[in-house]
Amino acid sequence: MTLIRCDQTPAWTALQNQFDAHGRNFDLRTAFAADPQRFATFSLKAPHVFADLSKNLLDADTRQLLQDLAVQTGLPAHRDALFGGGIINTTEQRAVMHWLLRSPSPIDTAHSADTFVAKAATEVQATLAAMLAYAEQVRADNGITDVVNIGIGGSDLGPQMAVLALDEFALPGKRLHFVSNVDGHELAAVLKRIRPESTLFLVASKTFTTIETMTNAQSARAWFLAQGGADIARHFAALTTNVKAANAFGITTTFGFWDWVGGRYSVWSAIGLPLAIAIGAAGFKDFLAGANDMDRHFCHAPLPQNLPVQLGLLDVWYRNFHGFGSRSVAPYHSALRRYPAYLQQLEMESNGKRVDTAGRALPYRTSPVVWGEPGTNGQHAFFQMLHQGGDVIPVEFVAVKHPRHDLPDHHTLLLANAVAQAQALMLGKNDDGGHKHFTGNRPSSFLLLDALTPTSLGALIALQEHRVFVSGSLWGINSFDQWGVELGKVLAKDIQTRLISGNAAGLDGSTSGLLAQLRSSN
Ligand code: F6P
Repeated sequence: MTLIRCDQTPAWTALQNQFDAHGRNFDLRTAFAADPQRFATFSLKAPHVFADLSKNLLDADTRQLLQDLAVQTGLPAHRDALFGGGIINTTEQRAVMHWLLRSPSPIDTAHSADTFVAKAATEVQATLAAMLAYAEQVRADNGITDVVNIGIGGSDLGPQMAVLALDEFALPGKRLHFVSNVDGHELAAVLKRIRPESTLFLVASKTFTTIETMTNAQSARAWFLAQGGADIARHFAALTTNVKAANAFGITTTFGFWDWVGGRYSVWSAIGLPLAIAIGAAGFKDFLAGANDMDRHFCHAPLPQNLPVQLGLLDVWYRNFHGFGSRSVAPYHSALRRYPAYLQQLEMESNGKRVDTAGRALPYRTSPVVWGEPGTNGQHAFFQMLHQGGDVIPVEFVAVKHPRHDLPDHHTLLLANAVAQAQALMLGKNDDGGHKHFTGNRPSSFLLLDALTPTSLGALIALQEHRVFVSGSLWGINSFDQWGVELGKVLAKDIQTRLISGNAAGLDGSTSGLLAQLRSSN
């Protein structure tokens, strides 16, 4: 597989010329007036997700050039390497196979004879069966009323986001809690609300070394024992690739996964156990099936109809040609309230890189800042800036056609707001440049689900994973490592010792000043 960095392709130069000639001054209102078919031309139907991309700052020629860019960089071959079990996480020498967790069989029959993938697939199915049987056992156990997931990053954001999103499908009577922060207030608040005899703690950590999770798990175990709890095997389970460390910690009930599952891609693995407990084995299988539908779409749909590809290409167009530094995500469904936080890790931990796979500094920017809040709340907070601020910030709306409540009027009003915001961003409003003037021409994408179900959520999340893969691939970076989180971890250990001892020798002026403040008695 030969990959060529985006800036070293003819399409890159052509895109620069295209931007100078037609991109910089592209106007959505003119584009719609000139082309009555624009909505049809720029909308796509992927499994479980409809996408209106027509309010984006591009024309058919630009889209074609972006597709050329994808081909010239070798994106299709890179995608095939992803789905073929290739070692594409080169800095850690690992395959990247989260897709296998939701595949009933290796996704492409061309690869099914591969012994590494086939062997992994067998292990995946066995582990999934064991985990789902356990989830059903917990669901049937009326003695367990509370499940506390202790994990951080990918061992928290995915399951928490999905459990909240699918609350309507959850078994009544089982309360799920998520403790991630090492800030003891978080665990203490949960401990106040639970009883040891009716609680199951899930210690979720890919590595089983993450200091926040280990500290919370130790405190939870100490609390459990201090409260007279005895049966650790019944009340603690570990979800980890490091079963040995979990056993050493004293946890014997374990569900494993593999180093080829990145933390932020792990909700499909044993890390998804809280979700499986909430929505049951059948619901969890639907979640996997929805993602698998999107995997197949990503693998087989031609580039012009391939939604992850089209979103990833837009990301590159906006970041590198328009220079937009951020994207706001606006889920118009309150159950998707952790979706923006989930996407932050997915995109910014994957693509927040400044060197290519060969370690060379990049002459262009990569991941935008991803942020957002559910609509309509965001409208009453930061949408002012989206409409009238000096920065253009593309917005990605997510709306759901059918609600799961029957309160009259609410859903129509909610959907009307989503559509109206996208319309207002595009159309703007003339007020002679004064305070009530909206420049308009502000781009947005609109993703629409029929209903928020395990299947559609699975598809939506897999869509997001693959769009991050697409932009990362074009940028020539490794989207699957996260060395940038390591330095702070190392320094925190040193500072922790110094906070206790007061030794500030060799520290910079600000850090030693802060230590003195923290240690002072007034
Ligand atoms: O610190 C970043 C990170 O390594 C993430 O990539 C990961 O999701 C998170 O920490 C938690 O890691 P673990 O599951 O190993 O505890």
